Amino acid sequence: MLTNLHRSAALLAFLFIATFMVSTLIAELFLSHASVAEVKQAIVSALFVLVPLLMMTGGSGFALARGRVAALINAKRRRMPLIALNGLLVLVPLAVFLNLKAAQGEFDSIFYGAQGIELIAGALNLWLIGLNARDGLRQRTWSSAAAVTSD
Ligand code: HEM
Repeated sequence: MLTNLHRSAALLAFLFIATFMVSTLIAELFLSHASVAEVKQAIVSALFVLVPLLMMTGGSGFALARGRVAALINAKRRRMPLIALNGLLVLVPLAVFLNLKAAQGEFDSIFYGAQGIELIAGALNLWLIGLNARDGLRQRTWSSAAAVTSD
């Protein structure tokens, strides 16, 4: 049950961030400023789902890991605060700032500088979340292998 919640929240969070990045790139490269502004607004609205999803992923992960000592789990424990800090201190403020700038039609060098930082920070979080997903799946494989061996 808790594992299902953890896996689903983790997958959805990953898909949300990947969608933010792909839609940003498509809008910036191929679409109008009005479309960019719509994407920025949609991202800010979607944050109300993404932030709880990440909290659920972290909370259920720490609950699943309680009392367990394993290198893969420890690596996940260490990455989670980085994911949360990068999200809350960099990605959320930048998403709000970019939305305000786009809504006012201010597509200046500050907008594009902030946009560049957002894409890099988003890619970093996607990478860290991907590593946590990989280690979660590896840990699962190892746990089931250990259960089979101990039978
Ligand atoms: C965004 C961050 C995270 C992602 C994307 C993620 C992803 C995953 C995935 C895909 C699984 C495999 C689930 C399954 O199909 O059985 C998993 C399992 C697990 N995760 Fe995470 N996780 C994250 C954060 C954490 C954190 C912070 C912890 C706490 C240390 C944690 C602890 C665990 C544990 C203990 C398991 C179960 C391993 C087993 O079945 O033995 N996860 N995680």
